[in-house]
Amino acid sequence: TERSLVLVKPDGFKRGLTGEVLRRIEGKGYTLAALAVVTPTREQLAAHYAEHEGKPFYEPLVEFMSSGPVAAVVIEGQDCVRGFRSLAGATNPTEAAPGSIRGDLGRDWGTKVQQNIVHGSDSADSAAREIAIWFPHLGA
Ligand code: GTP
Ligand code: MG
Repeated sequence: TERSLVLVKPDGFKRGLTGEVLRRIEGKGYTLAALAVVTPTREQLAAHYAEHEGKPFYEPLVEFMSSGPVAAVVIEGQDCVRGFRSLAGATNPTEAAPGSIRGDLGRDWGTKVQQNIVHGSDSADSAAREIAIWFPHLGA
């Protein structure tokens, strides 16, 4: 069985969408293995978004992600990395398919960063790396 790291980002958390995101994860049949509410530090975000360092959206992204609490969730289930990304939908919420979290609940708010409600790991390796950042006490 596989694990993935999901974040309900500050926009989703502030809008009260955490329960809706968890409902869709559980409805799909995945298990919650860990759950925490935390305001991310810049250090955590630098580790989490290391692959994006230097890109034009990196600074606004770190600024946005550290602006308030997020819900960090470890989910578990067969192929849940790919499965959650399918639940989340395309990165740009304007283009995300209806039926997906971003497609149903997101839109362009005219900011410099995509406020797209959720993060989901993009591979099993990324999941292991990210779980260690957000839940250091958990073995991947
Ligand atoms: P995550 O699940 O959040 O990692 O989304 P993703 O895998 O669909 O996107 P990616 O990892 O490529 O980018 C991480 C985050 O950076 C995205 O979720 C957006 O919030 C933001 N982002 C990515 N690409 C762009 C872009 O081209 N412009 C802007 N403004 N933000 C972007
Ligand atoms: Mg990503």
